[in-house]
Amino acid sequence: MNERTLCIIKPDAVGKNLAGKILAHIQEAGLRPVALRMLRLTQAQAEGFYAVHRERPFFADLVRFMTSGPVIAAVLEGEDAIQRYRKLMGATDPGKAEAGTLRKLYAASTQSNAVHGSDAPETARVEVAYFFSSIDQVG
Ligand code: CMP
Repeated sequence: MNERTLCIIKPDAVGKNLAGKILAHIQEAGLRPVALRMLRLTQAQAEGFYAVHRERPFFADLVRFMTSGPVIAAVLEGEDAIQRYRKLMGATDPGKAEAGTLRKLYAASTQSNAVHGSDAPETARVEVAYFFSSIDQVG
């Protein structure tokens, strides 16, 4: 099924000038960016995006990290895009990520893990709409 998913290149990866390599990796894997923007999240925006994690002990650190510098958000389209992009990212903890995945290649820790991806179709719809309106996404 053709799907769209949200990708965020996080402040650690943007700060290390890895965005170009990460986008190339994504495109080489056959996922097509249909929307792209760079922004610096405010505290309220980061808290809203990660609201599902607000009771977790790492929430405050996660929000601090996600607001520490610019991020690049993208909508990726392709057949089975949600699961394919999750596989490409690798495990949340880079120590557990498979060889060749974005997090194995570029992440430093469970928190500073280079990239985010939506985990399911409903989450993808909500997360894409958090960053992009329909007019921002090419058809
Ligand atoms: P992400 O895929 O963006 O989804 C939630 C984020 O919370 C996750 O990547 C990590 O950056 C962070 N996270 C998840 N679990 C932990 C943890 N145990 N400790 C610190 N940060 C975490």
